[in-house]
Amino acid sequence: MRHLSCLSDLGPDGLLGVLDAADTFKDQRGSASSPRPLTGRSVALVFEKASTRTRVSLEIAVAELGGHPLVLTAAGSQMGRGEPLEDTARVLSRMVHAITLRTAEDQRLRQLMAFSRVPVINALTDDGHPLQLLADLMTVRRARGTLRGLRFAWLGDGNNMANSWIEAAGLLQAELTLACPHGYLPSQQQLERALARGGKVRVVQHPHEAVQGADVVSTDVFTSMGQEAESAARLEAFKGYQLDEALLGQAAPDAMVLHCLPAHRGEEISAGVLEGPQSHVWDQAEARLHTAKAALCWALELNG
Ligand code: CP
Ligand code: NVA
Repeated sequence: MRHLSCLSDLGPDGLLGVLDAADTFKDQRGSASSPRPLTGRSVALVFEKASTRTRVSLEIAVAELGGHPLVLTAAGSQMGRGEPLEDTARVLSRMVHAITLRTAEDQRLRQLMAFSRVPVINALTDDGHPLQLLADLMTVRRARGTLRGLRFAWLGDGNNMANSWIEAAGLLQAELTLACPHGYLPSQQQLERALARGGKVRVVQHPHEAVQGADVVSTDVFTSMGQEAESAARLEAFKGYQLDEALLGQAAPDAMVLHCLPAHRGEEISAGVLEGPQSHVWDQAEARLHTAKAALCWALELNG
């Protein structure tokens, strides 16, 4: 049985295979040849945190693949009243064919995997956001025709998104420079793993060092879900890390701007950059649908 708990579960070939499948799903969407490999199957989409893109993309992906999506939130289920996750896992996996989970701790995802009889997909934890990275890579590959030889930059928090970017760089043996302030660094373990795989990953402190000549510049909120109490301290710590016109001007002239969204204009990214000609954020958001289909087919070992 396959779980998609992090990008590394795919391996380098699996990652590229999922991106290929996502391209096919995009190209075939709405046509008579659009496949429905989930016919007769149900997928539980469990959310213990808020979501727009992940929920919508997974729900539509399951439906368009012919399956039945079932959304469960903590508040609307017995999970919110303290039913243990291992019990939820055993009950759900007797009825559905796959489970996706958005939660805070990676440990909770591992617990679900341990008690589930069906594939589990990570729909975001504090440690990673593999489904988003699939969309990000699809967006870059469609715009540039390749992922090879590109210089990737990350600005801001060493959070779940940064960790998944590091994993991607390891799997693709790509060049990635992250600029993160002291105290907000990404996972050292992920860094070491990516370096061991041949990724050219480094962490610097100054944003201009990271964006210099970069082909793709990504950022994310300074305060992730669950960190709201730290918001004032974070705004202070991340001063100078806003992706604005001046900073983007130091990247390659045609550099792509990515943001997983939701964005806070005037905090981690200026409104002008987010809405500007180098921004690919809306294609990136759309790619969530195509890559969600590909990820579901990978986990369920179905041909798209
Ligand atoms: N990018 C992303 O995962 O968005 P949501 O939080 O809206 O799902
Ligand atoms: N880092 C953000 C990503 C949201 C999609 C968070 O975890 O809230």
